[in-house]
Amino acid sequence: MQSNTLQGVKSQFYLDLEERYNAHNYSSMPVVINKALGVYMWDVEGKKYYDFLSGYSAVNQGHCHPRIIETLIEQAQKLTLTSRAFHSEALGEYAQFVTALFGYDKVLPMNTGVEAVETAIKLTRKWGYEVKGIEKNKAKIIVCENNFHGRTGAVISFSTDPDSTKNFGPFMPGFEIIPFNNLEALAKALTDKNVAGFLVEPIQGEAGVIVAADNYLQKAKQYCADANVLFIADEIQTGLCRTGKMLCCDHEEVRPDILILGKALSGGTLPVSAVLADDEIMLTIKPGEHGSTYGGNPLACKVAITALKVLQEENMAQNAEVLGIIFRSGLQQIDSKHIKEIRGKGLFNAIELVHINKEAAWKFCLELKENGMLAKPTHGNKIRFSPPLVINEKELKECIDIIEESIKILD
Ligand SMILES: Cc1ncc(COP(=O)(O)O)c(C=O)c1O
Repeated sequence: MQSNTLQGVKSQFYLDLEERYNAHNYSSMPVVINKALGVYMWDVEGKKYYDFLSGYSAVNQGHCHPRIIETLIEQAQKLTLTSRAFHSEALGEYAQFVTALFGYDKVLPMNTGVEAVETAIKLTRKWGYEVKGIEKNKAKIIVCENNFHGRTGAVISFSTDPDSTKNFGPFMPGFEIIPFNNLEALAKALTDKNVAGFLVEPIQGEAGVIVAADNYLQKAKQYCADANVLFIADEIQTGLCRTGKMLCCDHEEVRPDILILGKALSGGTLPVSAVLADDEIMLTIKPGEHGSTYGGNPLACKVAITALKVLQEENMAQNAEVLGIIFRSGLQQIDSKHIKEIRGKGLFNAIELVHINKEAAWKFCLELKENGMLAKPTHGNKIRFSPPLVINEKELKECIDIIEESIKILD
């Protein structure tokens, strides 16, 4: 754990506890949070911050959204888990709601994001063999360089990030990696008749909010359709209003064959993920072939319904769209030689620094923290800015001022 600012005594106590007893699998900012509401978080010393990470976009609805918390408490007092050995009222209700909202025949409920990605991979392979007719064990899925789809053994098998893969082999075969935002490479890869699917993040989040060219998704979907290959969108981070539409694919009116959701599906309260597809794909998986003890639990189902309603009824997509434009234009006006590029869509944005010092982004984020704003570098010199979508214009402008002030630390 990296910590190079003086902490309060209380914070230091908890930092030390984690350092001593928790696995060192994250390099967290040295701040210890014990309360959050809306766009704000408070540390154990009582200092208030703007949250510009939103739990990696899990808290799009704002921290502890009262409606979501109310549903959580209400359902928790009634029924939390049946496992899928038995049915529940909540699962049917949720399945009907979520499939109608996104326009698919069926949903397959899981918990974490990566489990949903795993599910999509298995589903794609099943479809590849049983519908497309690919020869046994020959199915291939095309993925993109610099992807991030999670941390399981199968999913890191097609990661290009050495931190994700080093000494975790051997890896699962059956993936072909092509450059992101490169239609020529996609067209070439699609000539292989064993390709069952193309898995893509509509905007590459962990890679540093890499936005593809206009119409990339639309053309990629068309190429896939022409080749009888499933277009699989991982909207775990880009989805649920973050980029200014319910789904990032909506910007190009693209309907993925398989849609993967997670994170904000529960508004940051518990792990809830989902895979949506039509019957031709989804019904290739039969009873006993895939599942999860907690997947589709009544608590998750009820919370997800409310979390989705909150996004819709509180116009969060529109807020993200409008404030995103103001945010990027505010950042563009910052006069700093350290900014290489500002990019993003809606309230999913990043600054890429030119600074040659590898620690610059970390130093900048520590300064943001000192000035009351929490963000975290991603991949070295990039800082992602993704506040809860309940932020208002006044708060956003205050944050632009904090960014402008804080970047001076790099001079
Ligand atoms: C695009 C994308 N896919 C998958 C995941 C994995 O989700 P989880 O951490 O819930 O497993 C993430 C997490 O950041 C993500 O951004």
